[in-house]
Amino acid sequence: MLIAVTRGVSPAIADCELTHLERTPIDVRTAREQHANYEAVLAGLGCRIERLSAEPDLPDSVFVEDVAVVLNEVAVITRPGAESRRGERSSIERTLQPYRPLAHISAPGTLDGGDVLVAGRDIHIGITSRSDTAAIDQFRSIVDDHGYRVHGTTVQGCLHLKSAVTAVDDDTLVLNPEWVDADDLGDRRCIAVDPSEPEAANVVRVGSTVLVAAAFPRTAERISDAGFDVRAVEASELAKAEGALTCCSLLFEASAQ
Ligand code: GLY
Repeated sequence: MLIAVTRGVSPAIADCELTHLERTPIDVRTAREQHANYEAVLAGLGCRIERLSAEPDLPDSVFVEDVAVVLNEVAVITRPGAESRRGERSSIERTLQPYRPLAHISAPGTLDGGDVLVAGRDIHIGITSRSDTAAIDQFRSIVDDHGYRVHGTTVQGCLHLKSAVTAVDDDTLVLNPEWVDADDLGDRRCIAVDPSEPEAANVVRVGSTVLVAAAFPRTAERISDAGFDVRAVEASELAKAEGALTCCSLLFEASAQ
């Protein structure tokens, strides 16, 4: 059984952190509708949704991905790079406790889950304004005994590594070559985003289905042409808060295999 941990959209989402985007008005009702649809799509694909309540004092808290990295062997609770997001951790920690042993990134290291790309036994971690080499060293110590190879990866032009690249299977990546160098990501098949859709690399893999934001039909076609079953999901309102599809869930098997 696949679990999807999500959290309702905060009424304060308009006060979210922004790094690369201009602030524009966010309609909370539309954001909530799109988020509910995202959850419904995940449920329709067989996920059991564990939805945490919206947090009025934590504007970015719908983006649960940044607060933990759930592997089969361990869940790593991060120390988000934005101080305003560190209060998101306790509820996520309580939610993950029944499923995995927990480990923690501690000060002075900072890490956002959006910077952590797992592809088979390789874990690439973006070195960004949110995630630093001290946290990467801690992460490596936590997962080393489980046989993972951890690589620090340079990113430019976007918030997180997973703004630039995500995996559609263990050997296939979708990426924006302007933001991350494919040569840094091992010997994997790469599907480049359509150049007119620079933000399209953030896709969610659920079994054999790949969710792509509805704003990116050209990249969706490229992924479909590569043999994947693609599903478009509307996420335009949450995108104004500099959050993408992977940001809105923590997806993992209930029992580690
Ligand atoms: N607004 C998403 C983030 O900056 O973490």
